[in-house]
Amino acid sequence: MSVKINTLEIENVKRIKAVQLAPTKNGLTVIGGGNAQGKTSVLDAIAWALGGDSFRPSAPAREGAVGDPKLRVTLDNGIVVERSGKNSSLKVIDSTGNKGGQQLLNSFIEKLALDLPRFLNASNREKADTLLRIIGVGEKLYQLEQEEELQYNRRTEIGRIADQKAKFAAELPNFPGLPAEPVSPSELIAQQQEILVRNGEIRRKIEQKEHYAHQLELAKAEYERAQREAERLSQLLAAAENNYKLACIDTEDLREESTAELEKNIAEIDELNTKIRANINRDYAQNEAEEFRKEYDTLTADIERIRGEKKALLDGAELPLPGLSVEKGELIYNGQKWDCMSGAEQLIVATSIVRKLNPECGFVLLDKLEQLDTDTLTAFGKWLEAEGLQAIATRVSKGDECSIIIEDGMSMIPEVKTEQKTWKAGAF
Ligand SMILES: Nc1ncnc2c1ncn2[C@@H]1O[C@H](COP(=O)(O)OP(=O)(O)O)[C@@H](O)[C@H]1O
Ligand SMILES: [Mg+2]
Repeated sequence: MSVKINTLEIENVKRIKAVQLAPTKNGLTVIGGGNAQGKTSVLDAIAWALGGDSFRPSAPAREGAVGDPKLRVTLDNGIVVERSGKNSSLKVIDSTGNKGGQQLLNSFIEKLALDLPRFLNASNREKADTLLRIIGVGEKLYQLEQEEELQYNRRTEIGRIADQKAKFAAELPNFPGLPAEPVSPSELIAQQQEILVRNGEIRRKIEQKEHYAHQLELAKAEYERAQREAERLSQLLAAAENNYKLACIDTEDLREESTAELEKNIAEIDELNTKIRANINRDYAQNEAEEFRKEYDTLTADIERIRGEKKALLDGAELPLPGLSVEKGELIYNGQKWDCMSGAEQLIVATSIVRKLNPECGFVLLDKLEQLDTDTLTAFGKWLEAEGLQAIATRVSKGDECSIIIEDGMSMIPEVKTEQKTWKAGAF
């Protein structure tokens, strides 16, 4: 069972002269009144009584008061808390009459319940961290979010490169119907070499034929000049004639071959290979683009998986309020971020989280509820009742929603219970 406030009596604390109050056990108790009448002083006094010295007001004693500050709070677990005397010393007595101290109070008092503005004014990250801490998934969720962000950024970069590569590949020239590998001209070059060798041989034989022709000339001249040696030389002549005749026969059908065709083919191969290399480049670029596209898709699947894990983590956690979650380090309630929630929704979220921080603490103090209209106030009160929570709130108002009115540091209770309440000084 969570602990609630049964009654409180305050004297000479800050603006308070004397205030007595028995807040509603479940739901909202509104402390009304004009400005600077002592409403917030009541909440400050409760916080000081239950929260310890860190909640002590800087000037707790009411100026001009004859007596010392005096506080007395009774709780529904039987504990009575008092501060009195010159030093406002703390006295805590449990239901069996034993003395306790601040430590006993700390076991069921949640500090944020005494100081809700500290939660309301915290940064979005701090609010979300508080929630994640109490549901025990903060560290794991943080890791998943880091991982998601990393993969998301990588995917964006890879997607950009994939698009660039695909665009580049599409712009490269393409020649359909050609072999996949460049063609080699070495066979043709070998053939050309052989022909050149054969042509050399032919040229050598022709030169020989010319040489013999020259010798014949010489022989004829020698014959004329040396008739006397005609007999001796006639044999030489005959031999020379014979040689010449043979050479003529040998060279009669010989013609030099042309290499022009081969040269043409070699030139064509060069041209062909230029195109084939262009095709290879284009294929490479296309493959590369496809690889990047595949990596992009893998990253997309990764991101989906991480998001799924995050959802499962939060789905599996016991959240203090239906519709409350954390996304990217921020609280989300019914799909809305903190700054898009209504004032009432913010209070509900804050109260739920603070309650979950210490479920033993059954109450919360709420200052300045002017921001809520009376309908919203009623709805918030109903929610508190359904949750079994006690809230003590202040509001600049003297309307029907107020349980008591504070005027000049004194609590006023309704004089007559008619449609339109009027108020007189008095105790509960
Ligand atoms: N120790 C004190 N003695 C007397 N008056 C005080 C003391 N501390 C604050 N006040 C006065 O109390 C008023 C504010 O009280 P507060 O409880 O905040 O009023 P409310 O919430 O009703 O507007 C201010 O006028 C301030 O000067
Ligand atoms: Mg105030």
